[in-house]
Amino acid sequence: MSKMKLRVLILDDETDFADELKEFLQVRDFEVYTANTPGEGFESLRRRPYDLMILDIRLPGMSGLEILKQVRKLYPSMEVIIISGHGDMDTVIQAMRDGAIDYLRKPFRHIDIQLSIERTEKYLHLYRQFREIQDQHSLISTELERLIDRNFIGESRSIRQVLELANTAAKYANTNVLITGESGTGKEIVARIIHFASEQHNHPFCAVNSSAVTDSLLESEFFGHVKGSFTGAVNDKKGYFEIANGGTLFLDEIADMPFPLQAKLLRAIEEKKIKRVGGTDEITVDFRIIAATNHHVETLIESRQFRLDLFHRLNTLTINIPPLRERPEDIEPLLKYFVNYFSVRLNKSMPKINAQLVESLKDYDFPGNVRELRNMVERAMIFCNTQTLSTIDFKLGDKKGGKTSINVALNLEEQEQNLILQALNECGYNQVMAAKMLGISRDSLIRRMKKFNIKIMKESD
Ligand SMILES: Nc1ncnc2c1ncn2[C@@H]1O[C@H](COP(=O)(O)OP(=O)(O)OP(=O)(O)O)[C@@H](O)[C@H]1O
Ligand SMILES: [Mg+2]
Repeated sequence: MSKMKLRVLILDDETDFADELKEFLQVRDFEVYTANTPGEGFESLRRRPYDLMILDIRLPGMSGLEILKQVRKLYPSMEVIIISGHGDMDTVIQAMRDGAIDYLRKPFRHIDIQLSIERTEKYLHLYRQFREIQDQHSLISTELERLIDRNFIGESRSIRQVLELANTAAKYANTNVLITGESGTGKEIVARIIHFASEQHNHPFCAVNSSAVTDSLLESEFFGHVKGSFTGAVNDKKGYFEIANGGTLFLDEIADMPFPLQAKLLRAIEEKKIKRVGGTDEITVDFRIIAATNHHVETLIESRQFRLDLFHRLNTLTINIPPLRERPEDIEPLLKYFVNYFSVRLNKSMPKINAQLVESLKDYDFPGNVRELRNMVERAMIFCNTQTLSTIDFKLGDKKGGKTSINVALNLEEQEQNLILQALNECGYNQVMAAKMLGISRDSLIRRMKKFNIKIMKESD
C-alpha cells in the first residue's frame, strides 16, 4: 500500500491535550492542525482539505454531534473519529450512526489512537482506490454509450411503427427478431435499441457480420473451439454463441450465411446447447437472435439460398424499415439532427438550414438511405463556410420523379443557382436555350452549373 500523508484536524477545547496529540501524530508523519473552538475548526476546514478530523464531542458552545452532522454533510470525503468522555455511551452510539468512523474514550493511550488512525488510513486508501475504479468504469461506460448511437430519428408513421415494434421486441427477450430494409436504413441501430432497452442490456450485444467471416473459420467462430482441435487452434476459444450468452446475438446480413451453417445455427437455436469444435462437452447457451438483411428473404428461400425452417425461427417478429425516399417527412428532422450532430463533432457553429435545401433533398432518391444523408451532411458541414446550409453545399445526384420546386432564395448565390435551375427546367435542360434565357453565354452557364454542382438531368429521371 503506497503511503499517503494524511492531513488531520484535531478539534478539542483542551489545548494541552490537542497539542500533545498533534506532536504524537506529527512524529508518525501526519500533517496535523489543531483548533480549540468550533469556530476555529470550521475556519480551518474552509482553508484546506482534510482526510481526517479528530473531534471532541464535548465542546463549549456547540454540540459535538451537531458539528459531526455538519462536517459529514459539508465534507463527505473526510472521516471523523470522535473523542468522548466517561458516560457518553449514548452520544457515542449516536455519533457512529451519524457517520463517525471510530471513537476513543478519554483518557486513551497513544497506541489506541494510533490503531484507530491506521484503520482509518487503510479504509481511506481502499475507498479511494474503489472510487478511482468506479470513475474509470463510468468513463468507459460513457465512452461506450457515446459509441452506441441509439438516436433513431424520424417522424413518419412508418418510423413510429418501427419504434413501437422495437419496444415490443425489447419486452420479450425470447423473441427472435428479423429486421429488413435497404442498406443504410438503420437496421443495426434498431437492433441495438432493442437490446439496450431490454432487461438483458447489461449482457453482451454480439454483432456478427455473416459475410465477413471466412468460410473455413465459420464454424469455430460461431461455436468456438478447444485447443489443438485444428492447426492454429492454439488456445481454447469461445465462439459467438458463448460470447452472446445471456444477451443478444446480432446476425447482420443473414442472407450471406452459407447454407450448411444455417442448419447448424438452427440446431443451436433450437437446442440452446452447443459443442465447441473439437470439444465433447455440451455447453448450455441462452441468447436472443436479432437478424438483419437487405435482401428479400422470400426470394432467397425460393431460390434455395436460405432455409425456410431457419427463416421461421428468426422472424417471430419482423421489423421492416422502409427506404428514406418513401418517407420524405423524415428528411427534415434527420437533416436537423445530423447538422446539429456534426456541428458539435466538427466544432462549428450551427448553420441555418435553407428551406430550398429540404425541398431538394425530398426530391432526391437516396439509394444509400439515411447513411447517405448522414455522409452528405458531414461533407457539407466540413466545406460550408457560410451561416446557411443550402443546396450548393450538397452534391445531389439523380432526383426522384418530381420537379424541384423553387422557393424564395435567401442570398445572392442561391438566387443565382435557383435562376439557373429554373431556366434549365423550363428549357427541358437545353443549355443553349437556358443560357439565352438567362442572358449569359453557354460557357458561363456551364461554369456556373459546375460551381453549383448542377448536373444535367432529364425530367423523366
Ligand atoms: N433513423 C435514423 N436516425 C438516425 N440515424 C440513422 C437513422 N437511420 C440510419 N441512421 C444512420 O445511418 C447509418 C447507417 O445505419 P445502419 O448501419 O444501422 O444501417 P443498416 O441498415 O445496418 O445498413 P447496411 O444494410 O448497409 O448494414 C448509421 O450511421 C446510422 O447512425
Ligand atoms: Mg448494417
